[in-house]
Parts: sequence; C-alpha cells; structure tokens
Amino acid sequence: MGCMVEWRELLRRWMIFIESVVEEHERGERKGGHEDFVDVLLQVQRENVASGSPIHRESVKALILDMFVAGIDTTASLIEWAMAELLGHPLILKKLQSEVREIAEAKQAITEDMLEKNALPKSRDQRDPPPPPARPSPYSPGCPGIQFAMSVDELALANLVGNFDFSLPVGEELDMSEAPGLTVRKRTALLAVVTPW
Ligand code: HEM
Repeated sequence: MGCMVEWRELLRRWMIFIESVVEEHERGERKGGHEDFVDVLLQVQRENVASGSPIHRESVKALILDMFVAGIDTTASLIEWAMAELLGHPLILKKLQSEVREIAEAKQAITEDMLEKNALPKSRDQRDPPPPPARPSPYSPGCPGIQFAMSVDELALANLVGNFDFSLPVGEELDMSEAPGLTVRKRTALLAVVTPW
C-alpha cells in the first residue's frame, strides 16, 4: 500500500515535469534551436488534428514518459553489467583502456567522432580472447532506441574506462547473479574501487 502511494506521487511529479517540458516546447523558449523528439511529437499531433483521430495531449506525455522509462533503467543496467564483465576479465579491461586512451590522445573527454574514426570498432570485432557473453542480451529488435542506446552506452563506457582505473575492493567477490524485474538488474550492486587515471 505504502509502495502504491509512493508510486502515484512519483508519477504525479513526473507528469508535472513532462507537462512543463511540453509547454516549454510549445512556447518555443528552448535554447539550442535544434528540433528534438518532443518537437516531432507535437508536430505529428498538430498534423493529425484534421484526421478525425486526434492525438491527445495525454498520449504525447505518455510517449515522452515511455521514452524515459524505456531508456534510463536499461542504460544504467547495461553499463553496470558491462563494467562487471570487464572487472571479471581484467586483461580485456586493460586492452580496452589502452585502446581508448590511445584514441583520446591525452584529452579527457572522449567524443563520438573519436570512437567512429578510430580503433574501438577494431577492438570490438577482433578481441582476443573472445568477448565475455553480453548480459543481459543487450538489445531487442523491437527496441526503437537501439541506435541511440548503442552510441550512448559506448560513449559512456569509453569515458569511464578511459578516465579511470577500476578494481574490485579487497576481498570482494564478483556477484554476477540476476535479480528478477522488468530490466535484468544485478542482484547486488557492483562495488568497485575507482581511481582517476
Ligand atoms: C541497454 C539499453 C536498452 C535495452 C537493453 C533495451 C531493450 C528493449 C526491449 C527488450 C524492448 C522490448 C522490445 C519488444 O517488445 O520486442 C524495448 C522497447 C523499447 N525501447 Fe528499448 N532498450 C534499451 C534502450 C532504450 C533507449 C535508450 C530508448 C529510448 C531513448 C528505448 C526506447 C524503447 C521504447 C520506446 C520501447 C517500446 C517499444 C514499443 O512500445 O513497441 N530503449 N527496449
């Protein structure tokens, strides 16, 4: 019961936030100027008015919420699993770090174009020894966020392994068991000692 009350309150706050995002787009007050997902949804909504099956504002907001729900937990979980796999395969972690650091050429922030132009695809495809099994099986063909997620996750991982060294805390065993849920989270949170490189 307490959980349901908390959930409703959370949803209410989410909807207030999303309403403010929609209003901001409608007023055209955003900085940056480029068209984004919310602009496209509002445009489809406007074009659909005459069709006899209008898209209601609540549906637009539900779609925005859907993108958050579908994109946040999955991304966090994938990065945690990937880091856990790398900590369990320290030689692969070292190899990946040296490739990323070579690409970064002493720059701290690793950007998308650095990854595109350079050796990371090589490391992905020609890893030796073979890559650890991906867990959870990362993407589904039914996921519309797949391209975005792959770029964002690769970039996040590259920045993590490029800028920090990782090791398990002394005496800590890597627990790779899964917890039940909508996304496959680790049963226990990953613990790591993180040192700036
Ligand atoms: C590691 C990251 C991700 C994983 C593992 C993942 C996985 C999945 C899976 C398994 C589904 C169900 C597909 C089906 O029904 O066949 C799905 C659907 C979906 N994903 Fe992802 N996803 C990820 C990231 C993202 C991101 C970043 C976004 C958006 C920014 C996104 C948006 C969606 C949406 C909107 C759906 C629902 C599609 C529908 O209603 O048919 N996902 N995803």
